[in-house]
Order: sequence, then structure tokens, then C-alpha cells
Amino acid sequence: MPTIHPKDENPYILDAESAAEMTRLLQQDQLLTKGMGALLPAQIDPAQIHDVLDIGCGPGGWVRDVAFTYPEMEVTGFDLASRTVEYAQAMAKTQRLDNAHYVVMDALKPLGFPDNSFDFVNGRFLFGFMSKTTWPQLVKECIRILRPGGFLRLTEAEVPMGTSLAAEKLYHKLAEAMSKGGRTFSPDGRLVGVIPVIGALLREAGFQQVQHTAHILECSAGQEAWHSFYQDFKIGVALGEPFLLKAGVISKEEYDAAYQQALADILSDDFCGIWLYASVVGQKPAG
Ligand SMILES: C[S@@+](CC[C@H](N)C(=O)[O-])C[C@H]1O[C@@H](n2cnc3c(N)ncnc32)[C@H](O)[C@@H]1O
Repeated sequence: MPTIHPKDENPYILDAESAAEMTRLLQQDQLLTKGMGALLPAQIDPAQIHDVLDIGCGPGGWVRDVAFTYPEMEVTGFDLASRTVEYAQAMAKTQRLDNAHYVVMDALKPLGFPDNSFDFVNGRFLFGFMSKTTWPQLVKECIRILRPGGFLRLTEAEVPMGTSLAAEKLYHKLAEAMSKGGRTFSPDGRLVGVIPVIGALLREAGFQQVQHTAHILECSAGQEAWHSFYQDFKIGVALGEPFLLKAGVISKEEYDAAYQQALADILSDDFCGIWLYASVVGQKPAG
């Protein structure tokens, strides 16, 4: 049976169960899915997919979208945060999506699904709770629970880039704090560094036909994603403050000054920025 971490032991760097984080994740889900252009990877034929799993599903927007778009599929999402799962269940009920299911489960433990259970396993933006040691374990669990010929897609991000020095400083401090806990693959701790290694992780676990797709979200002033990016930064970086201070990578005064400056910079008419993320898809051998 899956083990549930008490709230203060949840390895996620933000407070997953806060209303602010749930609101941020719902908005981010829409932003990311739009940037990816489709719910499912291009190499997948939806007619071949029946059972779908979403790891670390958050408030569950992607699960509901897939369940709505493909009513013949059974879509399950799991997350460690029980209040988030309750919210996702309530939303699916309101939308009468009988084929959307949510459970509380820990991605860092052996997954509570039998071998060969799913045709497609999806995981997006898991870097906030994963580490160098847990990534290979999770990918191995994914190949176990996939049916032969099934697909795994992992979509991960790098810290956003832009013209705000203050925002850049806070993002790099976040990466530095994560690196201190062995959570990044970046050699000098300035980046998350997970995108470059996902392909190797999939191949090492036995996946074949590993393919990368890059996604770029432009969040420059006046662009469609500008306001959503501002909100994402405003909530996400504020929720990340305790993690940064606890890691000792920045003082409270330095954090406050950079946070206020970054908000002003991102709102300014000449702000330019992009958020780079990438999907890596691999297939479990059919034999
Ligand atoms: C950035 S959110 C991902 C949101 C979602 N995948 C999406 O793309 O919209 C990360 C999620 O991982 C969850 N999480 C944290 N630790 C976890 C764990 N050990 N097992 C499963 N989920 C976990 C958090 O509660 C949070 O909802």
C-alpha cells in the first residue's frame, strides 16, 4: 500500500495544499497544455489508448481534459496532497466525468498499480519533489505498470529566462536551494538540469523510440501568456520563500527586495521573457 507523508514531510518545495498553490496550478495547467499544442503526444494513436495515468496530477485539470475529450478512455490521476485530490474529485463529479479518477499516492514509493495496467503514463512538472535518486526509481516503476507497447511522457521545465535581473536571481536561488538537497542534475546548481537527462533515464529503464519535443512559452509584455506568467511568478515564488530561507541561499531582506523588484520588472512594458519546457516520450518494448 502507498505510504502517505505527513504534511510537513511532503518533499514538494511549495505548500501543495494551500488554496494559492491550487489556484496557481490550475492556471499553469491551462498555460502548459496550450503551449504543448495537444493533450496527447503526436506519436500516440488515441484509438490504441484505453487506460491513462497522470503522476503528481495536482488539482487534476489535465486528467479532466483528457477524460472529457476521450470519453472512451479511463483516466486516473494521483497526487500526494489529499486536499488537492479531494478538489480534483469534486471537480470531476461536477463535470460528470465518470471516467476521471483520482487517488492519493506517493510517487516516491512503489506505485500501487499491478504490472501492465496502463497504455499511457504522463508526468508533468514533477521536478519540485523529485531528486537525482528518485527519478530513476520512478521511471522504472512507470515501465513496470505500462503494458507492452505503452508510452511514457515526461514534461519538465528549466527556470524561465528573461530581462529581469531580480527574477533571474530568485529562479537561480531556487535552483541552488534544490541542488543543495540533491534535487537537480545541474553541475553548478544554477539550473534544474532535468531536461538533458530524461532521455537517458528512459533508455536506461528500457524504453525505446525516445523522442524529445521542445515547448517555448513567450511571456514578454503584451503577449498572451504575460499576465498568467506574472501571476505564476507572484504566487509560486512567494510560496517558495520558506524553502529558500530554510536552505540558507538568501536572506529575508535580499529575498523581499528581489521579489518586489521582479514583480515591477515583469509588469513593465519592455519586459521580455520565455519559459522553456520539453516533453520526452518513450515506448515500452512490445515483445
Ligand atoms: C507542479 S505540480 C504538477 C501539476 C500537474 N502535473 C500539472 O502538470 O498540471 C506538482 C504536484 O506534485 C505533487 N507531489 C508532491 N510530492 C509528491 C509525491 N511524492 N507523490 C505524488 N505527488 C506529489 C504536489 O502535491 C503537486 O500537486
